[in-house]
Amino acid sequence: MTVRSFDTVRRIVFGFGAVDMLVEEIKRVKGTKVLVVTDPGIKAAGIVDMVAGILDRSQVKYQVFGAVEPDPRVEVALASIEAAKAYGPDVIVGLGGGSSLDISKVTSVMVTNPGPIEKYFGMELVPLPGVPLILIPTTAGTGSEMTSICVLSDSKNNVKKGIVSEHMFARVALLDPQLTLGMPPRVTAMTGMDALVHAIESFVGVRASVFTDTLNLQAIRLVAANLRLAYANGDNRAARENMQHASGLAGMAFSNTQNGLDHAMALAIGGKFHLPHGQLTAFILPWVMEFNLIAAPKKFIEIAKAFGERTKGLSEINAARLSVKAVKGLLDDVGISYKLSSYGVPREDFPALAKATVGAVRLISNNPRKVTEADVIGILEANY
Ligand SMILES: [Fe+2]
Repeated sequence: MTVRSFDTVRRIVFGFGAVDMLVEEIKRVKGTKVLVVTDPGIKAAGIVDMVAGILDRSQVKYQVFGAVEPDPRVEVALASIEAAKAYGPDVIVGLGGGSSLDISKVTSVMVTNPGPIEKYFGMELVPLPGVPLILIPTTAGTGSEMTSICVLSDSKNNVKKGIVSEHMFARVALLDPQLTLGMPPRVTAMTGMDALVHAIESFVGVRASVFTDTLNLQAIRLVAANLRLAYANGDNRAARENMQHASGLAGMAFSNTQNGLDHAMALAIGGKFHLPHGQLTAFILPWVMEFNLIAAPKKFIEIAKAFGERTKGLSEINAARLSVKAVKGLLDDVGISYKLSSYGVPREDFPALAKATVGAVRLISNNPRKVTEADVIGILEANY
């Protein structure tokens, strides 16, 4: 066994009403001047005003950068960094889904590290700590509040790239399930499935450890038991809270293992077709599970069991296959098709998508089964 490590966020504050602790947490990190990084959807939902009210009541100085977009381009990160440099915050609060949290993370380190931003794409290339970060998720899926990665779209080359740096771990992840109650069912389904994909890819991956397995198994159990409930009735507080925990647990794990073939394919397809990240990873999941199954059947049996499938008396491989059946059943129930032809991706793009997929070394290197471009084309063809 080689020597390994496990890193995670410094502090997690969680539960209904956790957002009311924001000022206390700002003081804890010695913050006096706050930049809130968020997006227009969160503003429209009234969440920015609610947080602004909390800061106003305690007379905390702040400014809002509210122009984060879905699948944020490098240009959005540059605009946020410019806003931060102009304002000079001593704490950054990321508020929103994965995109807002990712942009707040990269903004934090780009205030203290010299540009250009491009030189930090890759693993652990950022030399200096950034401005302290407090991350407040409003969706339950990306787990971005728990990870050290920021994914940006390079719109010139139609690819998505990641910056991974230990300096992008939050000082505080502030988890208030109240903020996720307003998510519409479709967003609940897509983001919740993304959490499941993180847990499964991290769990079956070659870099899995006892620490990540423990987090991932619980995350899988929580999604299996709660995603349908949260989708069916967004006011189900227990289901919302459990989904937020699932997302966070999986985020803590995959930040240490990275994901796998599913995310490599999702980034390749998403780079060109700009479908929501959670939708992409969700519909790819059963395909990749089927492909990976023979490389780690015992892990897939654990997944099947976490979904409540009865594996007793079955051969190892047939028991493992029940995990795919369980995931397809969940996708059916939350209205996500796993036929590629539903998403307008033409066959002539397969070779380029396969090349981009296999090129995502950070992700592919954690996949339990070795992957070639021909394999990826085979998977796309089989599920068209
Ligand atoms: Fe993801």
